[in-house]
Amino acid sequence: MISRETIDRIFEAARIDEVVGEFVNLKKRGANLIGLCPFHNEKTPSFTVTPAKGIYKCFGCGKAGNAVGFIMDHEHYSYPEALKYLAQRYHIDIEEEARDEKSAEEKNERESLFIINAFAQKYFSELLHNHPEGKAIGYTYFIERGFTEETIKKFQLGYALPAWSAFTDEAVRNSYQPGLLVKSGLTLSREQEGGEGNTRYYDRFRGRVMFPVHNLSGRVIAFGGRVLQTDPKSPKYVNSPETEIYHKSDVLYGIFFARKAIAENDFCCLVEGYTDVISMHQAGVENVVASSGTSLTREQIRLIGRYTKNISVLYDGDPAGIKASLRGIDLILEEGLNVKVILFPDGDDPDSFARKVSHIQLREFITKNAKDFIVFKAALLLQEAANDPIRKALLIKDIVGSISKIPDGIIRAMYIRQCGAMMDVAEEVLISEMNRVRREMVKKQAPEQGLEDLLPAVIKDEPRAMESLSAEHQEREVIRLLLGYGDHEIFFEDPSSPAGETPESKMTVAGFIRSELEGEVELTFPLYAKIFREYFEERPDHAGKTHFINHPDPEISKLAVDLLANPYELSENWSRMHNISVPGEEHVLRHQAFGAVNALKLRRVQGMIEDLQKKIKTTEREGPDIENLLQEKAHLDRIKAELGKAKGTVVIR
Ligand code: UTP
Ligand code: MN
Repeated sequence: MISRETIDRIFEAARIDEVVGEFVNLKKRGANLIGLCPFHNEKTPSFTVTPAKGIYKCFGCGKAGNAVGFIMDHEHYSYPEALKYLAQRYHIDIEEEARDEKSAEEKNERESLFIINAFAQKYFSELLHNHPEGKAIGYTYFIERGFTEETIKKFQLGYALPAWSAFTDEAVRNSYQPGLLVKSGLTLSREQEGGEGNTRYYDRFRGRVMFPVHNLSGRVIAFGGRVLQTDPKSPKYVNSPETEIYHKSDVLYGIFFARKAIAENDFCCLVEGYTDVISMHQAGVENVVASSGTSLTREQIRLIGRYTKNISVLYDGDPAGIKASLRGIDLILEEGLNVKVILFPDGDDPDSFARKVSHIQLREFITKNAKDFIVFKAALLLQEAANDPIRKALLIKDIVGSISKIPDGIIRAMYIRQCGAMMDVAEEVLISEMNRVRREMVKKQAPEQGLEDLLPAVIKDEPRAMESLSAEHQEREVIRLLLGYGDHEIFFEDPSSPAGETPESKMTVAGFIRSELEGEVELTFPLYAKIFREYFEERPDHAGKTHFINHPDPEISKLAVDLLANPYELSENWSRMHNISVPGEEHVLRHQAFGAVNALKLRRVQGMIEDLQKKIKTTEREGPDIENLLQEKAHLDRIKAELGKAKGTVVIR
């Protein structure tokens, strides 16, 4: 038992912002820090740390607690484990109240597996550095590969002897149970002939150089082992199997060493494997991880997404390999991250290239050669399709398929423009194909995920799209535009300008929405109406995004977080992130604002027409009353038709 006094000291020392900051990229917001919640998947930060109170709280998923609680939740530690972790971090000696020296077997199984992996790592490293064979074979191999002593130490590389059970024997001598060793994946077992209970244990990793895999907090959870001689009979790499503490699909090799640099650089390089990660680190590029062995998973993408929204995928220049991996990249787009592609010169992979050039050259190469993925893919396929119209049609479907995966409608619209120009295809063609794809996606997705995200794409030029939505979604869209893009400017022709000239007047999206709706249409859903009112009442000072995200009314803050689940800051970042010019932000926003406003107006007019129709039905067939009603209806019908013609929407069934 840890003494009360020690516990108090740990609580005093552990600063919530530092503790959480190890795992979450936090940015200052007034007295608080905010970041992306590590406990649920989110795109807009709702995870808030309040240093003054020593607590964290996620306004998205509701998780909250203090520093110790955070470590328990995040690392799946027990209370004493979390205390020990913090004690170590803050250099506090733990006074244990006697009777507590538990053996490895008594601790819970997960913790045992961590301990076994830590033991194995030390054992393998020890062999690499001090065993004659380890030095002569393993260490020499790494040095010949160009790894420095410092790199070898940092990544805790090691060496496994070629004997059958050198590791297992050593572990058993140190009183680790064979059963747990098998569960850790480091030891394999085989029933011997001669009956029950006669089990033979041997090592999974034999005669290999060892790469430990670390979790986010730097604990070893698995290993990869590479052969030394090229022996066609044994695989080049052997990896730990899935265990209680190692879920391959959730892990990225190098994330522990990379996470700070990823956040600082605001992008992450994705490479193939261990050696690429290590060589790039050594060459001074530390924001690099590998999906090692498996193809990239959603969980891995979300893990990166906690630190940055920008991924650069690094390829060696092998066209077949590139084409094979294009699909996997769509998954990144689907998660709302931005993808760039970096192609290495023929015959080089990130590992060999990083060893060939200087630090500066490597960095420069990475920044200069990053190509926007969609544009890259379009160019690549276009080259292949050449003048073959059928292949070109397929290519268009393929590209549009990728674009359709992007959650943000405005970004999608930009790509449609860009690709339309590149491929020399009318935008409308691409848009209708995209709408088709996305309608399919809506059908497949759970409704709460799909609809509002899909809205922006369909508004534009898609007949009836906005109108066919429920009243609730139409109003929601207005709120989304206000909160997300309220202060962005849109331009339009000024009808009051003299004939022959088309001077443009400009307005913010919020100003536009207000001037169009005020006094004419009221939002009918109380929540939306309240936000609408508050947005304009609080202007211009503090009714921005955070005002609503951190709103004391949880319904409002929840909605704001939902609506603003969009990582992009449009004008500042777009061209920088994508390295392409921005022809259409304003154009697209204007369409969306028009579409949203018109849909509301139409609904209102339609409602008035329906009321009139009811009245007409119950009114005498002749006389002045019916005349008035019919005239009024004709007037409304005209307005409805006008609205239908208005720029930006196509209306009326
Ligand atoms: P390489 O084949 O380039 O491995 O694969 P290497 O160790 O760098 O070998 P040489 O020296 O170039 O011949 C690159 C990465 O792909 C993963 C590893 O992580 C490796 O670092 N990989 C490769 C595997 O996981 N399994 C394999 O069988 C091969
Ligand atoms: Mn290689």
